[in-house]
Amino acid sequence: CGIVGFVGNGPVQKVLVDGLAKLEYRGYDSAGIYIMDTDGQDALFKTEGRIADLDQLVDYDLPAMMGIGHTRWATHGEKATRNAHPHQSASGRFTLVHNGVIENYEALKAEYLQDYPFQSETDTEVLVALVDFLAKEKGLSGEDAFYQMLALVQGSYAIALVDNHTPDRLYGAKHKSPLLLAIGDGFNGLVSDAMAMIAYTDQYVELQDGEVLILEADQVHITTLDKKPIERAPYTAELDAQDLEKGTYPFYMLKEIDEQPAVLRTLINAYIQDGAYHIDADLLQAIQAADHLYIIACGTSYNAGWIGKKLLENWANIPTDVYLASEFAYDMPLLSARPFFIFLSQSGETADSRQALVEVNCMGAPSLTITNVKGSTLSREASYTLLLHAGPEIAVASTKAYTAQISVMALLAAALGNIPIQEIARDLGIVASTMESILAEKSRIQGWADSNLMETRNAFYIGRTSDYYVSMEAALKLKEISYIQTEAFAAGELKHGTIALIEEGTPVLALITDPVTGSHTRGNLEETKARGAQTMVISMEDTARDGDDFVIQSVRSELRPLVSVVVTQLIAYYTALGRGLDVDKPRNLAKSVTVE
Ligand code: G6P
Repeated sequence: CGIVGFVGNGPVQKVLVDGLAKLEYRGYDSAGIYIMDTDGQDALFKTEGRIADLDQLVDYDLPAMMGIGHTRWATHGEKATRNAHPHQSASGRFTLVHNGVIENYEALKAEYLQDYPFQSETDTEVLVALVDFLAKEKGLSGEDAFYQMLALVQGSYAIALVDNHTPDRLYGAKHKSPLLLAIGDGFNGLVSDAMAMIAYTDQYVELQDGEVLILEADQVHITTLDKKPIERAPYTAELDAQDLEKGTYPFYMLKEIDEQPAVLRTLINAYIQDGAYHIDADLLQAIQAADHLYIIACGTSYNAGWIGKKLLENWANIPTDVYLASEFAYDMPLLSARPFFIFLSQSGETADSRQALVEVNCMGAPSLTITNVKGSTLSREASYTLLLHAGPEIAVASTKAYTAQISVMALLAAALGNIPIQEIARDLGIVASTMESILAEKSRIQGWADSNLMETRNAFYIGRTSDYYVSMEAALKLKEISYIQTEAFAAGELKHGTIALIEEGTPVLALITDPVTGSHTRGNLEETKARGAQTMVISMEDTARDGDDFVIQSVRSELRPLVSVVVTQLIAYYTALGRGLDVDKPRNLAKSVTVE
């Protein structure tokens, strides 16, 4: 979920709705805003739909001096309007938005709110009901009731609260979910991500866990939960509002796929300077002192981790394993004597990864976060950070962050393994141009997707070694945006069970860029063909055979995933497009998942 709050001079409704549109990557199951004028006149707009639907609903002519807004990724309660935020207390006095999960909401209900007329199934409504209860039953001011409520709550939250007894004030609080204070000229705000208000200000203050905000148009107070004041200087957010627009592209995903060669060139320039690797020497030393690397991530970042493992093992010569963050946090493997942890996260905010980092920090072990977002939670809490320099990634399905993560790990592994600079710069440069030549062949890929993937219910990607790892990402991309049930299989393993699923016409896509195992994969592909599969081969000049569907120019063997994946991104894109789906906002998903 994403939240936004604003108090002061400005077009309140517009700031809130525009802000929510920028936060839609955090969820789009429902949306709402609440606004109030200095005289206490207020209005609440909520819809089960998306921000575009909210926009239709909002009365932009109403006078307002403050407001809060929310875009939801459903956790507790279906995606109906009654579960949409903002939630209001039964008395109508308090209104609140929340990102996170309140773990003890049932206990709080049972202890304080047995007779409360709840309107929704959300955990959030308990928060606003509790503030109201504490204010009324204990005779507390709105401010004190807010602090008291926070002391009783367990779980994760970024909250914005309005008390209509103090119409010039906004309250905020943060624990585990991200929250920034936005400082403007004649206004102050709070946001889940600086993107939401970058059109109005570039000055932000990062809140830490357990901090509370009190905002008025011309002053802000940050305190701890026990009201100790905190001073923290703002930073300037380096976001280009232009980067957040999709320009002439029909979807952000296509724009982001197209940006990959440029991102790769940016990374080469960022991490190679004056003929030397430009990577923090302390970081390199800390990794070299380790006897085992543990890569931890979720989703697409997890898939990138497998390519990173190959690079780090091959070039840096350090044993490396890859773990799903949600499992690692609670089922830790037996660790080596000197572990080093690498967190991969586009957003730097994923709650599962953050929980694993909390465990790692409890052990006092060194860690690195590789992320696209400077100052993100995972970046702040790890010992070291390397940035992806990919520019904002807006489409829910990640593309340029995947190739950027692999590229950064390649540069890191090359620096650790003393691969000659000229060699790596040249080879990555070749990768960038090869990506460009693939991007020039979009219509061919679209044609294949149109002829083979429009009707099917399921599909398979197969490959061996790195081709298998890329298959994992290729399958995730296709399933998440086209809803075709797609599985990735190690080509040799298919015959040990899964081949039972092959029917007449089942699409099986083989990645064959590894010269050593290519002929084995071809054999496995034949086995599926003999059982009726509709096959496609993506290969490289030096692994190609006549009749292959897509042959990519050869690049250095360890870097092949960076190019083969681009073909599969385009297959996923054109399949979803051909099926008439909302490519950038697939159902049930959110780009940044800040709950465990
Ligand atoms: C969500 C997104 C995925 C993403 C994953 C990890 O589930 O839908 O596309 O790969 O989170 O995100 P991160 O920001 O940690 O890379």
